[in-house]
Amino acid sequence: MEIVIVPDAATGGELIARAIAELLTDKPDALLGVATGSTPLPVYRALKSRVEAGTLDASRARICQLDEYVGLPEGHPESYRAVVLREVVEPLGLTEASFLGPDGAAADIAAACAAYDRALAEAGGVDLQLLGIGTDGHIGFNEPCSSLASRTRIKTLTHQTREDNARFFDNLDEVPHHVITQGIGTILEARHLVLLATGEAKAEAVALAVEGPVAAVVPASALQLHPHATVVVDEAAASRLRLAGYFRETYAAKPAWQSI
Ligand code: PGA
Repeated sequence: MEIVIVPDAATGGELIARAIAELLTDKPDALLGVATGSTPLPVYRALKSRVEAGTLDASRARICQLDEYVGLPEGHPESYRAVVLREVVEPLGLTEASFLGPDGAAADIAAACAAYDRALAEAGGVDLQLLGIGTDGHIGFNEPCSSLASRTRIKTLTHQTREDNARFFDNLDEVPHHVITQGIGTILEARHLVLLATGEAKAEAVALAVEGPVAAVVPASALQLHPHATVVVDEAAASRLRLAGYFRETYAAKPAWQSI
């Protein structure tokens, strides 16, 4: 696992956008797994700037969703399908035809989850999966004690996650209790995992995920099992890392030709 400590969120966004741009140069129709929440927005801004400047052709990229609320009315502006279409798909000049996501409004949620895992496999698998981390250590919506082998399925949000996400809704009561999330086993099948964490509120979860034991109680610690996982953190999110000095030295000494 590579840990990259950047001065701020914008620098992290640029770094990850560069890796995505390199991937799309090598594989123009790469399947990019995207995350929602506030953290990845600098990545999407940096990608949009590249597309607008003509330095990135994302026209054949395919975008897929990590997780989704269950029970929001179709077209709700905070459904993650709506968020990904608004924050990623449209700014990159893509259409819904390039987009894959689970159906959070399906009558048969279990079937919708299984169908999404199949759709990801049939699409050739995710090339790069962008991840955030919850203050409780979740990735996707895999809350603490999610099976490390889990597949896409329905989960119940912790009170902490519902409180963290209440800012996107009028009040806490409107935050759904249930979600569909790619399982940890599903996430680990992506070829490259890139987790971005910014801000002091993430420092403890980052330290446990990176330097603690692999444990279901810290779902993000599953990244330790992946052969190509990159964790990009700003100074605040890195503030509890015991090995921060080593991670800085390693990155500073990295050969210029080597991407993340
Ligand atoms: P955030 O969410 O980026 O809004 O902090 C991260 C997450 O819950 O994975």
